[in-house]
Amino acid sequence: GQIEKGGYPHFMIKEIMDQPACMMDCMRGRINVEASNIVLSAIIDNKDKLLSARRFIIVACGTSWHAGLIGKHLIESFCRIPVEVEYASEFRYRNPVVSEDDVVIAISQSGETADTLAAVELAKQKGAFIYGICNAIGASIPRATHTGSYIHVGPEIGVASTKAFTGQVAVLTMLALTLAREKGTIDEDTFRTVLKEFSRIPEQMQQVLALNDKIAELSKIFTYAHNFIYLGRGYSYPVALEGALKLKEISYIHAEGYPAAEMKHGPIALIDAEMPVVVLATKNRLYEKVLSNVQEIKARKGRVIALITEGDTVMPGIADFCIELPDLPECLTPLISTLPLQLLAYHIAVCKGLDVDQPRNLAKSVTVE
Ligand code: G6P
Repeated sequence: GQIEKGGYPHFMIKEIMDQPACMMDCMRGRINVEASNIVLSAIIDNKDKLLSARRFIIVACGTSWHAGLIGKHLIESFCRIPVEVEYASEFRYRNPVVSEDDVVIAISQSGETADTLAAVELAKQKGAFIYGICNAIGASIPRATHTGSYIHVGPEIGVASTKAFTGQVAVLTMLALTLAREKGTIDEDTFRTVLKEFSRIPEQMQQVLALNDKIAELSKIFTYAHNFIYLGRGYSYPVALEGALKLKEISYIHAEGYPAAEMKHGPIALIDAEMPVVVLATKNRLYEKVLSNVQEIKARKGRVIALITEGDTVMPGIADFCIELPDLPECLTPLISTLPLQLLAYHIAVCKGLDVDQPRNLAKSVTVE
């Protein structure tokens, strides 16, 4: 009913708007900026096991798998431990090479996804140490793991996952930073800076959510589309995948996420005046390269919606529409850049008169194969 939706027309928009508060719940008791410290009890209790890991294998499905891709980037860059990210459904049927030196991280909002649970059981049989990142307290996956961290974002009702994704990425960020400090693979300055900026994510999210009306307006223009392309690199590549997934799930518009540099190996053939292309183009090492991708799209008359860092004066002269985001360390950008993409998918679906909380053919939790 209306009461659970907090006055919003759908659970999905409520859950999108709740993200600043969810982030605070996820961080509560875990981060201390003054003391420059992160406390994840699962890491304290299992330090030796986690520090001696030869590699991490992340298993998940859907949106949780996208969070896993960001986790790989975080853990590899900060901890220098190799990470593989697997679809749980593929992993479980492949007789994968897993040993006692491996740590398997299972990511699942519901904690009940059949394939992810089966992947956990298989990895356990093979002797791996299993770390769960779940939302639903006491669900099957957290019960099957050796340890874990809850994301604590509260029940998620909308079928399209939103606040669980940012919660998963927040836990993975804390996990990577903590392990990196224990391993000595992060310098103290970087740790402090990232932690301080991380603690400000709820405020930054609020700033981005204030763009809701603007994004609602923009969405009206794109209800005609039958296809969308989403491009990003580095930390933004999984965000592009997640943005495309949100759009297809609830608006039934076919959308593909691609690493921006791969565009020339295929998707560029699709670009014409009808094709909307969402480009994650925040300022970082690869900004110039993404800028040249945008020029290639414009040369073929594609319609570009660019997510940019505030103060960027170049992209607004080239892209059709720009959405400004606060300046953040690159590793934290997914927590912010995902929000406008959730809003875009939501408003396009609403404009098309679709049931955003109960999209056709999809289930909140896939407990059978
Ligand atoms: C279903 C849901 C998705 C979710 C996926 C994995 O497909 O519709 O939103 O990302 O399952 O669910 P889990 O609960 O394991 O994160």
